[in-house]
Order: sequence, then C-alpha cells, then structure tokens
Amino acid sequence: MNVGIPRETAAGESRVALTPPIAESLIDDGHEVYVASEAGEAADWSDEQYEAAGCTVVADRDDVFEAADVVFQVQALGATDTETDPYRDGQVVIGLLGPYDVEEETLAELADRNVSAFALELMPRISRAQSMDALSSQASLGGYKASLMAAEALPKMFPMEMTAAGTIQPAEVFVIGAGVAGLKAITTAERLGASVRAYDIRLEVKQEVESLGADFVELDLETDGSGDDEGYAREMDEEFYAAQREELNRVVPESDVVITTAAIPGAPAPELVTEEMVAQMDSGSVIVDLAAETGGNCEPTVAGETVTYEGVTIFGHTNLPATVSHTASDQFANNVTNFLENLLTDGDLDFDFEDEVIDSTLLTHDGTVRAPHRDDEDTADASEDADTEADDDA
Ligand code: NAI
Repeated sequence: MNVGIPRETAAGESRVALTPPIAESLIDDGHEVYVASEAGEAADWSDEQYEAAGCTVVADRDDVFEAADVVFQVQALGATDTETDPYRDGQVVIGLLGPYDVEEETLAELADRNVSAFALELMPRISRAQSMDALSSQASLGGYKASLMAAEALPKMFPMEMTAAGTIQPAEVFVIGAGVAGLKAITTAERLGASVRAYDIRLEVKQEVESLGADFVELDLETDGSGDDEGYAREMDEEFYAAQREELNRVVPESDVVITTAAIPGAPAPELVTEEMVAQMDSGSVIVDLAAETGGNCEPTVAGETVTYEGVTIFGHTNLPATVSHTASDQFANNVTNFLENLLTDGDLDFDFEDEVIDSTLLTHDGTVRAPHRDDEDTADASEDADTEADDDA
C-alpha cells in the first residue's frame, strides 16, 4: 500500500499520524510512505528523520492525497473546522473523523467519491481492539497531563510531608469519571503524593479505583442502567443529574483539585459541577475539565480557555494529548498501523464486515454511507442522497 501522511490542519494540533520509527516498520513490511513536508515538525520529527526511515517527503500537502491508497490522519472531517480534504476515488482514510459531528452532505460526498472512511472513535470495546483504540491511548495521556497541570497550578504541594517547619497536608484531589482518562489522572496524582478520591456513575470501577490507592466516593443514587453493553456510560435524565449534583455538593467544595472526565459518546457532557460548588472551593483551587470539548462537566468551563471563577482556576483545554505530542503521536501511529494491518489480508484491503472492528468504524464505503453509529433513518437518507448523486454523476 501507499500510505499518506498529510500535515494536520486542526487548530492547535501538534500530533502527527505516523512517526519515523513506525513508518520504518511499515516500509519493512513492503509498504511505501508519503509524508507532507513538516508534517511531524510540531511533534519533534523532522523531514530528514522521515527520509532516513525510508519515507518520501513531498512539499505539497495535496500530493499526499494524490499518491496515497491509505491516508492516516489524527483529525479530519467532523473533528476539524477545515474544508474536506481532496480524497480521491477509492481512497481509504483512517483517523479521528468526528463521526458525531460530520455533516451528512460530507459523508454523502465521500461515499460518492468511493472513499472508505474509518472513524477510530467508533472502535468497539473488545480486547482485540485495544491495540487500535486511539481514543483510549490519547485519553490516557490527557489524564496524565490533567494531574500534572493541576499540580503545577495549585498553590499547595501535592504530597504530605513532615518537615522541621511542620507537617504539610496532602492536596485533596477528586476525579469525576474513572474511565481511561480518569484512571490515569488518579495514578498520576497518587504518584505525586496527593490524597485522591474518585467517583464514577458505573459502580463496577470501584475496585479498580481502590486498587490504585484512591478512595471511591459512593453517592446515594440509583444507578441501574447507567452503563451499556459496550462499557460506555448512558446519558441519564435531568432528574438524575440534579440528584447527582446535590450529592457531589458534599465532595467538590472540600477538594483542592477536581478533574472531570465524564463523557457520553455522541451527547453533550453532563453538567456535574455547578457554579455554586466552585464558589465553595478554597480560593486557589484548580479544576481541569477534560470534557470541555463536548460542553464541559463544570458550569463555568469555557472550551479552549483557562478561566478563573471565584478564585478557582478552571482549565478547559480541548486537546491535552497534543501537549505531549511526541508520545501521543507514537501511540496514535501504533493504533493506526495496527488498524491497517487488521484491514489487510495478504497485503490487500479486505473489508470484512464480519469483523466488528471494521464494521463498527466504517462511515462510508463503496458508494454508500454506512455511519453505523447513527440511527437507521439518518443513515438510510444519507445513503440515498449519496446514491442519487452517484447516479447523477453517471
Ligand atoms: P468515556 O470517555 O466514555 O467516559 C469517561 C468516564 O466518565 C466513564 O468511566 C463514564 O462511566 C464516566 N461517566 C459518564 N457519565 C458520568 C456521570 N454522570 N457521573 C460520573 N461519571 C460519569 O469512557 P472511557 O474512559 O473511554 O471508558 C469507559 C470504560 O470502557 C472503562 O471501563 C474502560 O476500561 C472501558 N474501555 C474498554 C476498552 C476495550 O476493552 N477495548 C477500550 C476503552 C475503554
């Protein structure tokens, strides 16, 4: 296969979809890799390093789309505000494609161009898929960075210490949402010596939280039906969230740091931390809202900004993995390369819909909009549009 790596276009994106060491392994397997000049620069990979790995570096970003059979992108389509890239007929695209935000017309246009677009956000949560799961690899880095940012911004030390000048009490860190990002935030805060508590709507994570040395906070709530078969939290009704906020009001005000990670795929993040709770926190406290991109878990959060509310600093960063771009790119490159390997049989593309990984992530293929995460009606409409446009072209 000819694999193409364009420069990323999303604002603030410093990751690159393939790094030279992983490109080299693809080339060793008989593939060719075309990289747009400076594609890896923000992740500290130079054109010379790509060339040394055996890649062809091309000056014009569009030349990558010309040359590639398969394009790897960190973010494209619905994940960016930029124009649709010049994907050519029959091309395969693999990346974070913002499947919940991509316009129907864009999908229809891609189907019309016979593009096979794989959105890694839709990866099923099965053991076999873990090596291809970019959301998880990136979420883990986000959780790590959230604890570091909080430790850096808090005017208190994280660890407890007995010094000649007196005892330093540990910082109280509260993590809401103990999924991939939350668990990594817990581990990192624990390593820095904080006293960590965590809460999740899914009670089954209690043991995991405790095995990391943190205390699990149980709220007096009826949580039946809070998780789905895939391991995702379900969207609950407003009555539930109101009860949850009332319970959280006991814990948030006494925390020095609150890290929120509660997300619902395809839906706005639930608002769990109110202005009233924030106002009760000590001045100088810190909140890192990892759900900022989908509306935030915290009422005063502003996506992409750091704000101060009643003396509390609230970080609303929307792409923390990009702040560790070198590691994040390596992890992403491994995910996407593993995905390609899974898609190939004897070196050829094999769209095996019996394979849950392929079936769940493929948005468009062979003139059709599949978008498996959308409801049947939307998908059928979009694919009809695509068919009509394809007929028109013919
Ligand atoms: P996520 O990013 O969708 O959500 C983050 C966390 O927020 C989840 O733990 C969720 O339960 C929690 N949450 C949602 N609404 C909440 C609310 N109102 N209050 C409190 N917490 C709330 O989830 P993530 O991090 O991707 O993982 C969720 C689960 O799926 C984990 O158990 C993880 O280990 C599992 N998983 C399994 C994979 C596999 O087997 N391949 C891959 C990825 C995750």
